[in-house]
Amino acid sequence: HSVDELIARLPKTELHLHIEGTLEPELMFALAQKNAVALPYASVEEVRAAYDFSNLQSFLDLYYAGAGVLLTEDDFFDLAWAYLERAHGDRIVHAEIFFDPQTHTARGVPYATVHRGLCRALAKAQQQWGMSSRLILSFLRHLSEDDGFAVLDEALPFIDEIDGFGLDSSELGHPPEKFARLFARCRELGKPVVAHAGEEGPPDYVWQALEGLQVCRIDHGVRSLEDAALVARLAQARMPLTVCPLSNLKLKVVDDLAVHPLKKMLDAGLCALVNSDDPAYFGGYLGENLLACRQALDLSADDVVQLVKNGFEASWLPSAQKACWL
Ligand code: HPA
Ligand code: ZN
Repeated sequence: HSVDELIARLPKTELHLHIEGTLEPELMFALAQKNAVALPYASVEEVRAAYDFSNLQSFLDLYYAGAGVLLTEDDFFDLAWAYLERAHGDRIVHAEIFFDPQTHTARGVPYATVHRGLCRALAKAQQQWGMSSRLILSFLRHLSEDDGFAVLDEALPFIDEIDGFGLDSSELGHPPEKFARLFARCRELGKPVVAHAGEEGPPDYVWQALEGLQVCRIDHGVRSLEDAALVARLAQARMPLTVCPLSNLKLKVVDDLAVHPLKKMLDAGLCALVNSDDPAYFGGYLGENLLACRQALDLSADDVVQLVKNGFEASWLPSAQKACWL
């Protein structure tokens, strides 16, 4: 299909990617063996078979367990480097990457170990291919706001290498407003903030992210379409929504890609873009997300170009660099 060739050829961005969600079962097994961490699986095939999720929480339980094999700076480097090689193969020229330090500090892994391993891989990708990147420290919303303040304190010595802050993990019952003070502090540090909202949570959580947290992007946001006033506000502000179609399918946010709201979002004038979220768990990297949407939603070449352009527009690249890609 000619649109599929376009998808493969276009230079792209990735703006919603959890580095812990790129841990492929093969690397999980290799690191478990090296670090003598027990896994509740006998084989790589058994791991893949376990990736049959019923909702966000059923995924998060396995995602946090899998991340338990990551211990040393080299482990974090290897994780990120494996992702960056795939991203380069997908023609991703700019990646803004989430990491979840609380998942690691809670296990006794120092913040510095995580940070240094990830940054070393990002620097190598810049050097080797000219791939630009940003690092987004994401707070776990199932934990307390005080726990978030504690990890922010640990990260402060590295603040110059942190480009922004995010909010992820179990959405229902953990509304954005729970983190209003923490996000105000992050903004005082001069950093942009984003938040997962409207994945499983109601449109009200998207409003809270906008007004309470003052985010500059909404991660997911697919449930925004349930609220016409919210859609108008998002469209008017050109507020980016980092949509993750295969994630939504695997976590049963949608029953079928054919009924995914991506095309409706574009048609409503929203700055929607396609991302891969946790590709090792959801069965596809960025290219596969775009191909699956093209097929299920019959996206045109213009739709694909718009999605990819929205990615550059929504990125934190300086405007002169954005202009080069647009
Ligand atoms: N939603 C919430 N938390 C997450 C996700 C997600 O899609 N991926 C990794 N942590
Ligand atoms: Zn996510």
